Amino acid sequence: ALPRDLEGRRVVVSAGGTREPLDPVRYLGNRSSGKQGYALARTAVQRGAEVTLVAAATVSLPDVAGASLVRVGTAEELREVMHRTAADADIVVMAAAVADFRPTDRATYKIKKTDRDPDPIALTRNPDILAELVQSRVNGQVIVGFAAETGDSAGDVLEHARAKLKRKGADLLVVNAVGEGKAFETEDNSGWLLSADGSERAVALSSKSHMASDIWDAIVALIEA
Ligand code: C5P
Repeated sequence: ALPRDLEGRRVVVSAGGTREPLDPVRYLGNRSSGKQGYALARTAVQRGAEVTLVAAATVSLPDVAGASLVRVGTAEELREVMHRTAADADIVVMAAAVADFRPTDRATYKIKKTDRDPDPIALTRNPDILAELVQSRVNGQVIVGFAAETGDSAGDVLEHARAKLKRKGADLLVVNAVGEGKAFETEDNSGWLLSADGSERAVALSSKSHMASDIWDAIVALIEA
């Protein structure tokens, strides 16, 4: 049986990838399936937490029983919901893949094909929601980020990840090596858990729900420390 060590804790988990519209039918998106975020929400419910799952474009995943679901589309919508729900959460987990850029203009009507090449798509930076949540952190709140890193070696990946943990100010960073069939749209996951206190631990390739248990173990350890 799972431990009930999240009993009474209010948890917000974001999952999936944001979609940034170009026109009513097209968007810029990413390959996040939402599976890791959903596994985190499911495990948190099983361990006794009160869970809000904020889902960006996770159309084909079954609902998480016992969690309240808020669907969002764009990074801007995700940002609004995260700020509102994080305000009274004990733990915030940003597992969503947030688009770093959005098309500057959203066409009202579908962009028409013409007989010349289209204009380039102008992009605008999206805010870093995780960094903002750290800025507005409420007392004692634990904030967890994810990092999908590519690199030639585990050493490269970890070096990028340590810098990211510092830069963003999160308490825990879940690091996945991505690329060539790793992590995105797969059933399994592997990586490292880096804590702000300097502790690091590798997570061997396993199911996303196994990974979720390891992540909750690390979060509970932070709360108890
Ligand atoms: O910098 P990078 O995109 O690799 O950071 C990943 C982490 O930051 C994830 O936890 C993601 O949810 C979060 N993020 C965010 N807002 C952005 C970009 C990333 O909250 N605009």
